[in-house]
Amino acid sequence: MPEADALIRDWNMAADPDAAACPFRAGAKLHDGPDVFFKRGEEHVRAAGLGGNWVVTRHALQQEVLLDPARFSSHLSIGFSRLIGEDWPLVPLELDPPEHTLYRKLIAPWFSPAKARELHDDIRDLAASLIENVRGAGKCDFMGHFGQPFPVTVFMRMMDLPMAEMPTFLGWADNLLRGATLDRRAQAAQAIKDYLLALIARRRAQPGNDMVSHFIASRIDGAEIPPDRMLGLCFMLFIGGLDTVASLLGFVFRELAQQPELQARLRAEPALIPAATDEFIRAFGVVTTFRYATCDMDFHGAALRKGDLIELPLGLASRDERMHDDPHHIDPDRKAKRTLTFSTGPHTCAGMHLARTEIRIALDEWLRRVPAFGLPPGAEIVAETESVWALQALPLTWDKREPA
Ligand code: HEM
Repeated sequence: MPEADALIRDWNMAADPDAAACPFRAGAKLHDGPDVFFKRGEEHVRAAGLGGNWVVTRHALQQEVLLDPARFSSHLSIGFSRLIGEDWPLVPLELDPPEHTLYRKLIAPWFSPAKARELHDDIRDLAASLIENVRGAGKCDFMGHFGQPFPVTVFMRMMDLPMAEMPTFLGWADNLLRGATLDRRAQAAQAIKDYLLALIARRRAQPGNDMVSHFIASRIDGAEIPPDRMLGLCFMLFIGGLDTVASLLGFVFRELAQQPELQARLRAEPALIPAATDEFIRAFGVVTTFRYATCDMDFHGAALRKGDLIELPLGLASRDERMHDDPHHIDPDRKAKRTLTFSTGPHTCAGMHLARTEIRIALDEWLRRVPAFGLPPGAEIVAETESVWALQALPLTWDKREPA
């Protein structure tokens, strides 16, 4: 905890009434205050005994932290294993270089731009069939009918997991990230761990063509991946693959529902969709990530002590007016769409090519197949701001007799 009170704030995103409507606009209010401040009272295991954590509000400063693993460590910074009293890291997210680099190389072939291209046609077919399931109804809950099943199915196919388990996985992921109590989060962490250990054992006994079997067969400097690293790797992919794309898609489609002109423009000019995808990614940094200070330092006026926890809500970088003119305005024609939504530095999101492909295809297929859609009158749409920012549900309506 800092000695000077000037940098201490009792900020709690969940308690801000504006956050449920739009966490990005609510978060941007912090830009009126210091670029780095100390938030009192975080109860999460990752901040145990620290009395709270630092929050970095600006794009440039978040970038500085993310690019400097020597001063800002990722080791156990998310803390899922600590929820259940253990200390295995998520792999590669909670590893620092040089070990991080070894695992990053290992997973690279599964997440290359070439792999995303290879999956492209299957992803498009999947998007089309999910949309066709609801098109004739003239309405849907975007999150339940598309936002979640679309990316989750892609991921489950890569892992060769049974589709019938999807609701269980989504429940676990939601409880792990947003469970109301630490107990509930810990139960979810335990359930995922147990499931993954059983999965690893099954794949070891009977290898297939999936990611887990591939990692079991891989060698690092001639040796098998140690059991705790294998668990951390599978856990990482499970969480990365289940929640993030769905969360981002929810905000994108709410924006389109609220902006009929933008929607009409993208429908009329599909060539703009790749640029619009990048603009949506710029504007909707849904992930909040963390680092620990590895030494005492003065960080832009904040006296950080070794071991202090630093919170980086990447959605604040999305809406930093020092980086983007009129940051809340969604403008596919924006020239520089610099973003930290996928982080930067050694931990830049491994799944970003896949995620971008999914978002682009979702936009393309929806705008081709569904006529002008909007929100039903009086719809109250609530955003969750714990961990990955997300919409609980997103009701959409359209005229089912109209062609797209
Ligand atoms: C829109 C969707 C996504 C967003 C916004 C996102 C965001 C992020 C961010 C911010 C990080 C780095 C956090 C940090 O620096 O501490 C990250 C890392 C990672 N993401 Fe994603 N992600 C997305 C989708 C995915 C998908 C679909 C996968 C895979 C199935 C994935 C796999 C990973 C992995 C493996 C890492 C760790 C990389 C490393 O530590 O080197 N992500 N992601």
